[in-house]
Amino acid sequence: MSTKFYVTTPIYYVNDRPHIGHVYSTTVADIIARYHRMCGKDVFFLTGTDEHAAKVVDAAAARGLSPQAWADQNAAAFKETFAKLGITNNDFIRTTQPRHKDKVVEYLKPLLASGDVYRGNYEGWYDAGQEEYVPEKKAKELNFKSAINGKPLVRKSEENYFFRLSAYATPLVELLTAHPEFVQPDARRNEVLGRLREGLNDVPISRTGTDWGVGIPGDEAHKVYVWIDALINYVSGIDTPDRRGYWPADVHIIAKDILWFHAVIWPAMLMALAKHPGFEWVQLPKKVYAHSFWISEGQKMSKSLGNIIDLEKIDQYVATFSLDALRWYLASNGPLGTTDSDFAESKFIEVYNSDLANTLGNCFSRVTNMTSRYFEGKLPAKGPHVAASDDHNRDAQQAVSRYRVAMESLDLAAACDAAMELVRSVDGYIEATAPFKLAKDPAKLPEVGTILYNCAEALRIASIMLWPMMPGKIQELWSRMDCVEYITALAQNGQGSFEAWAAWGQLQPGATIVAGQPLFPRSLPPK
Ligand code: MSP
Repeated sequence: MSTKFYVTTPIYYVNDRPHIGHVYSTTVADIIARYHRMCGKDVFFLTGTDEHAAKVVDAAAARGLSPQAWADQNAAAFKETFAKLGITNNDFIRTTQPRHKDKVVEYLKPLLASGDVYRGNYEGWYDAGQEEYVPEKKAKELNFKSAINGKPLVRKSEENYFFRLSAYATPLVELLTAHPEFVQPDARRNEVLGRLREGLNDVPISRTGTDWGVGIPGDEAHKVYVWIDALINYVSGIDTPDRRGYWPADVHIIAKDILWFHAVIWPAMLMALAKHPGFEWVQLPKKVYAHSFWISEGQKMSKSLGNIIDLEKIDQYVATFSLDALRWYLASNGPLGTTDSDFAESKFIEVYNSDLANTLGNCFSRVTNMTSRYFEGKLPAKGPHVAASDDHNRDAQQAVSRYRVAMESLDLAAACDAAMELVRSVDGYIEATAPFKLAKDPAKLPEVGTILYNCAEALRIASIMLWPMMPGKIQELWSRMDCVEYITALAQNGQGSFEAWAAWGQLQPGATIVAGQPLFPRSLPPK
C-alpha cells in the first residue's frame, strides 16, 4: 500500500466565472498532486465550488435566474476550465450536492448536542461582500469600511447559532506554536498568532431570511453560514468508506485572503468534532499554505480597471504560448511566498523566451538534432571520457536533491530553477565540448557519443522534474526520447517512481531519439 497524500484547493464562489487567481491555486495544487503521484504516493486531489453564498443569490437575481441555475452554469465553467488546463483533480465537490449537504447536517448534530454550537443573539459590523462580521476594534480601524471592497460596513443584529470559538483560543495557540508547519509561510503564521493572542469571540454560524443554504438540524429556518458549510467540504468530499484514509489532509492550498478561516475556525471546528464518538478520525490537517496574490500589469485586478486575467485572456495565452507555458509562468513566477506577483505580458514573454524557448526547447533541439545527424536518431553508447564536465551524474543528483527539498517545502520557483539549472549545465557542456566540431572527424565520433549520451540523460532527468509543471510538453519530450513508460506509470495512482526514474543511466543506447519541431517555438507575435 502506498502512502496517501491529500491536497485541496479553496472551493470557489460561483457568483462569477473563474479567473487567473482561481486557476493559480488550482494549478499549484495540481503540481503538488502530480509531484506526489510521481513519488509513488496514492494521491487524492480535491477542488470544487462554494455555492451557498448570498452573492450567488444576488448575481443570479440580477440575471433573472434561480441561484441554482446560475450556480450550475458557473460550476460548469470552473469544471471545464480546470479540465482544459490539465488539472488532475480526483473529484469536484459542489456544496449544493446532497452528498455534501447531508454531511454538514451530520457533523452539526454532535456539535449542537455538546454545546459547541448554540443559539444566541448577535450584533455587530457586517461586511456584506465578504459575508463576515468584522470585530469592533478592526471595524473602527477600517473606518467602518470593508477592507476588501471599501464599501461601508453595516450594523446588523440577528438571532443566530454560534460556534464556541472562544473555547479554542488556547489549543489554537498551542497548535500554531508546537507545529509551526501547520500554517505556512512563517510570516502568515505569525500574523495569525498575533490575532489569536488578542483572544477569540464566539462566531455566528447561521443566518435567517434565506432559503439558500443548509438548514441547521432541528431549526431549518436558520441556514448554516456559508463559511462553515464551505470548510466542511474538505472532509465531506472524502467521507466515504473508500476515501476516509486520505484524511487528514496533507495540505490545504489557499491564499492570504481566507487564512483566518483555515488557520483558526477550521481547526477549532475539527477539534470540537473529534471529541465525539465516531468522529475520532477527524484529526487536524497537516498544513495550511496561504499564498499571496497575482496582480495584473502592475495593478490590483478589478472589474472597474478591466484588467482581470479572465478566461478569455487565459485562452489567449494558451493559444499563443501553449498551456504548459502558462503553467510554467504560474509555477516559476507565482506568489507562493508573502509578496504578490505581477501577471504582465512583457514578463511572461521574457520568461517564455529565456526558460522555455532558449533553454529547455533549444537544448532539446540541439541534442535531438545532433543525435539524428550523427547517429541516425539512435542514442549512442557512452564512449571515452571527454571532459571534466562529463560528470552530469553529479550535477543531476544535486539538482534532484535541490528539487526535492523545494517541492517538499512548496517552493515551486526553486523547484523550477533546480530543473532548469540542470538544463543550463547541459548547454554549458555542449559549448565547452563542441560535439558539432568533433563530429567533423569520424575518428572522434565515439567522443561525440559520450557527449550526446550525457546530454540526453541529463535532459531526461530534468524532464522528470519538469513533468508536474509542464505535463504536456514533457510527455512529448518523453515520446521523442523513447521513454513513454513514464506516461503509462503516471496514469496510475501509486505507480510513480521518482527516485528510480531520476537515477542516472536509464536511457539505453540505441533508443530512438526524434528530432522534430521545437518544443517551444521562438517566433512570437509582435508586441
Ligand atoms: N469560497 C471561498 C473559499 C472557501 S474554501 C473552504 C472563497 N472563494 S473565492 O472564489 O473568492 O476564492 C478565493 C481564492 O481564490 C483565494 O484564496 C485564492 O486561492 C484564489 N484567488 C482569488 N484571487 C486571487 C489572486 N488575485 N491571486 C491569487 N489567487 C487568488 O474565498
